[in-house]
Parts: sequence; structure tokens; C-alpha cells
Amino acid sequence: MRFSLLISPALPLLSLAHPSQMPRDTSSIPPYRGPAHNAVDSPCPIVNAFRNHGMIHSNGSFITKQAVMDAMGKLGIDSQLQNLLASGAVMAGQYARENDKATIPWDNTPGFTKEGEWFNLNDLDFHDFVEHDASMSREDAALGNHVEFSPKVWSQVLDVFEGKEKTSIDLIAKAMNVRYQDSKARNKDFKDEYRLKTAILRYGEQAMWTQVLAKDVESGEVSVADMKLLFEKERFPDNFTAHPPNSITGTTVNTMVPELFWANPGKGDEIRQIGIGNAMGFKDLLHNVNLKDFWHPHQLKEKVLGLYDEKKDGNVPIGDIPATDNDTR
Ligand code: HEM
Repeated sequence: MRFSLLISPALPLLSLAHPSQMPRDTSSIPPYRGPAHNAVDSPCPIVNAFRNHGMIHSNGSFITKQAVMDAMGKLGIDSQLQNLLASGAVMAGQYARENDKATIPWDNTPGFTKEGEWFNLNDLDFHDFVEHDASMSREDAALGNHVEFSPKVWSQVLDVFEGKEKTSIDLIAKAMNVRYQDSKARNKDFKDEYRLKTAILRYGEQAMWTQVLAKDVESGEVSVADMKLLFEKERFPDNFTAHPPNSITGTTVNTMVPELFWANPGKGDEIRQIGIGNAMGFKDLLHNVNLKDFWHPHQLKEKVLGLYDEKKDGNVPIGDIPATDNDTR
């Protein structure tokens, strides 16, 4: 009785504690074991690291939405942000299969349907779907291999961190600008393609990895050695201590994105380019849409409902995950 009287007034306070004040999880990341011999790659160092630590299939294929969400949860990312990112992956997978671009046969794999909620890491390769130009560690699609780590591209980033032990918002923003300027100078497609979506993805990615590896989520301060390990080896540090659940959210990322943007010495040029890129996208859209198809609102409604039904009927639940060599899940 006395115990409950003492503890009950404190309960609302405990539930209000900020995740960063809760003890950090030291056991959530399995040790690095590397990719399976037949593994496929993505252009994302973090999802490749999930594969390399056995947090998803170590061959990088047949990854369910839930598996990649669980992996993100182990980094302290909340369920809404997990869902947003994993939905992008699933859409990329469905796009690959619908357009016959999927390189891994799926049609005889039990539980994995064309419309199912799963993807292969190399489904994320499609340029300008999620993958974009001016990456920190990959070449632009128009200039070379946009999937694998590029020591040449990465060396431009490392030059910015030369002699520093820790990253900062200012240094990351400067490195982003170096990569932006390099792509703009060398890539002839850049002017048409770099738009608001590209910028949101680029800044969001930088905010996310920083928040995962930083001791204090919002500081932007990460050991340069840990940054190198993540990008160069696609591996989490051995002493990695994940943030408590729900520490990294849409809000924490959305707070850091403008900080990175304002710290960017090339932001004026980038704003102009975003305007140009979006205008080019709009021109393409008008070119591809036949407005006659939508002359009356009921036709538009029918078209949308038709697409919705098609999707609903085709959505078969996922069954067991096929076993792969060297896998625990
Ligand atoms: C299922 C979830 C995810 C998907 C589908 C995904 C997808 C991608 C893709 C397609 C790229 C290539 C973009 C480019 O061209 O540079 C990328 C890059 C990147 N992603 Fe992810 N990602 C996911 C989760 C995450 C998470 C959780 C983080 C960080 C915590 C992250 C951090 C990054 C970073 C830092 C890059 C930039 C690499 C570079 O600029 O060289 N990603 N991601």
C-alpha cells in the first residue's frame, strides 16, 4: 500500500521522460558478420549495414517490411519514421516487379507475391526513385556506379573532415555542398533532376545517420572514425550503443534538416536549382498526362477507384520467409 502511494504520483513523470534520458540499449545490434556470398547491395549504407549485421537477411533479398522496420527500431527510430522509410522500400520493390526490373526471381517463392510488402536491397537502385544524385559516398548514376561505395567520391567528403575527430552540423553541411557542387559541375542531367524531393532525401539521410551514431541525438557530433566505418565498411561500431526506443523521430529529423540547410554555404545556389529542377519535373508531368482522360470528375473518381480495387485484390498476405544460407531470420 505504502509502495503504491509513493510510486503512483511519479508514474506520469516517468512516462514523460525524454527517450534520451532513458538508459541506452547496449545489446540490440548483433555483431558484424558481413554479407552472404550471394548478397545483393543497395545504395544505402544503413540498410547494407542491417544486412551485414544479420538484422535482415544477409543475402539482402526477400526483406519483409516488418523485418526492416524491426531493424530500424533497434537503432531507436520510432514506428512512424520506420513505417515511412519501409514503405518507400516496399514501393521500390513493387515498382521493380511491376516493370519487370526485378533481378531476383520471386514468382515461385512461397509467400512472396508481386504486390506483397517486401523488397530486395537492389530494388532500391532505381535512379531518381529514392536513389538520387550528389550522394556523399556514391557516384551519380549518369557518371558511373551509383550503388557501390566510391572511394573517389568519398575522398571529397573526407577532405572536409581532415584533422577533425568529430563531425558537426557545419562540417556535414559543408561536405554536402562539396558533393552538390561536384555533381553540378560534372553531371549533365543534374540541372533537370535535382529538385525538392532530392534535397529532402539528401538532408534527411544526413540527419538520420548522424542521429543514430551521435551520443546526443540532436548534436550532430559523431566520431569521424565511426562515420568512416559506417560509410566505408557499412558496419556499426563495435561499442555501438543504440538510443532508447523512439529517440529518433520525424520531429528530430525535421529539426536537424533546416539546421543543416542554413549551415550550407551553397544554400542560395541550391534554392535556385530546386526551383529549376521542380519546374523541369512539372514540364515532364504535363507532357505525360493526357488531360482528356480526366475531363469530368466522375471519370477521375472511377480511374482512382479502379486502381485502388486492383491493388486491394492483388494484396495477398506474406507467409513464411524462405530460408537462406547463413540466416537467422
Ligand atoms: C527501409 C529504409 C531505408 C531505405 C529504403 C533507404 C533507401 C536509401 C537509398 C535508396 C539511398 C540512396 C540515396 C543516394 O542516392 O544516395 C539511401 C541513402 C542513404 N541512406 Fe537510406 N534508406 C533506408 C533507411 C535508412 C536509415 C534508417 C538511415 C539512417 C539512419 C539511412 C541513411 C542513409 C544515408 C546516410 C544515405 C546516403 C548515402 C550517401 O549519400 O552516400 N537510410 N537510402
